[in-house]
Amino acid sequence: MLVKTLDDLLAEDVSGRGVLVRSDLNVPLDDDGAITDPGRIIASVPTLKALSDAGAKVVVTAHLGRPKGGPDPKFSLKPVAAALSDELGRHVQLAGDVVGSDALARSEGLTDGDTLLLENIRFDPRETSKDDAERLALAKALVELVGDDGAFVSDGFGVVHRKQASVYDVATLLPHYAGTLVAAEVKVLEQLTSSTERPYAVVLGGSKVSDKLAVIEQLAQKADSLLIGGGMCFTFLASQGVSVGKSLVQPEMIETCAKLLDTYADVIHLPVDIVVADEFKADSPPETVTADRIPEDKMGLDIGPGSVKRFTTLLSNAKTIFWNGPMGVFEFPAFAAGTKGVAEAIVAATEKGAFSVVGGGDSAAAVRALDLPDDGFSHISTGGGASLEYLEGKTLPGLEVLES
Ligand code: 3PG
Repeated sequence: MLVKTLDDLLAEDVSGRGVLVRSDLNVPLDDDGAITDPGRIIASVPTLKALSDAGAKVVVTAHLGRPKGGPDPKFSLKPVAAALSDELGRHVQLAGDVVGSDALARSEGLTDGDTLLLENIRFDPRETSKDDAERLALAKALVELVGDDGAFVSDGFGVVHRKQASVYDVATLLPHYAGTLVAAEVKVLEQLTSSTERPYAVVLGGSKVSDKLAVIEQLAQKADSLLIGGGMCFTFLASQGVSVGKSLVQPEMIETCAKLLDTYADVIHLPVDIVVADEFKADSPPETVTADRIPEDKMGLDIGPGSVKRFTTLLSNAKTIFWNGPMGVFEFPAFAAGTKGVAEAIVAATEKGAFSVVGGGDSAAAVRALDLPDDGFSHISTGGGASLEYLEGKTLPGLEVLES
């Protein structure tokens, strides 16, 4: 990627200068509003710290969830501001609005090295508007907060696939730089796509085939083996004519799955056994059955031990591995063994020298929730959707704009 980076900006004198940073601080919260996985906050710290250390007046913009149409306390960045203060080791103020009077007053009051976090950018509907003029108007309001000699650092890798005001349009108005996180993520994805050492194994999970169809087609052509687990394996199994009971199936995708299995018979591998239960509940008693014998009244909630063994064999000699999506409902301990087993196989392959990338979202959360070592993988991406779209070969607006 031929873009200016944070180092280029730091080489200029940023002391006293306003710098707008787009971070991805979209972390999962529990029912009480507590952060359950601070991964993205931790990953955002190096860029913010470097700017603050250099004396910049740092204004951070980020989103949380998908609020509809306006401010909603449920999606406030308040818990994020507190966690970011802890991680950064210095106080991060939270503005009471996005680009309103409070944000403006606070930005004007910043002293060198201060950090201000704006309220959830998606509280302003112009952020996600399809109307270019609306997005541009919000981008201009963001620019006002850092002044005419301000700069923009794009560090929210998880949102670079979104053509949104704080990701795309601001970069058309200010000198722009890739933050350390965006630069590091792109370097890894470039390595995956250009200098892929073989065998290349891809593990895909998650619930819906339709969400991942484009990437399945792309990776099936590229990889030596494509291992499919998670909810989406049931649509593939159903396409083979076997009964999948009450398991999650997308009937409209059955034909597509059958064609994929036909075209990539040597590449795609499905689970050979499944852990089933009566209901989608943590305490529903688990039972392991072969993949073609799922009882009518049961649903599959994880891949079974035989599948883990088979997938482990395929992963053991891989030199490059990409993993996106859990193998089962890892949040329920009785249905976490498939995800854990496959993750452990990837860690073992990494120890033997494989280059392994965990593709964000749920799989990154699983690594942490299942107490797997973060450093057992070569890279854990902060962007699920963004890394998949990159691997599909799509143009990511938030990256493209940095090249201009
Ligand atoms: C993510 O969670 O993948 C990113 O933060 C992007 O969020 P979005 O899918 O709501 O745009």
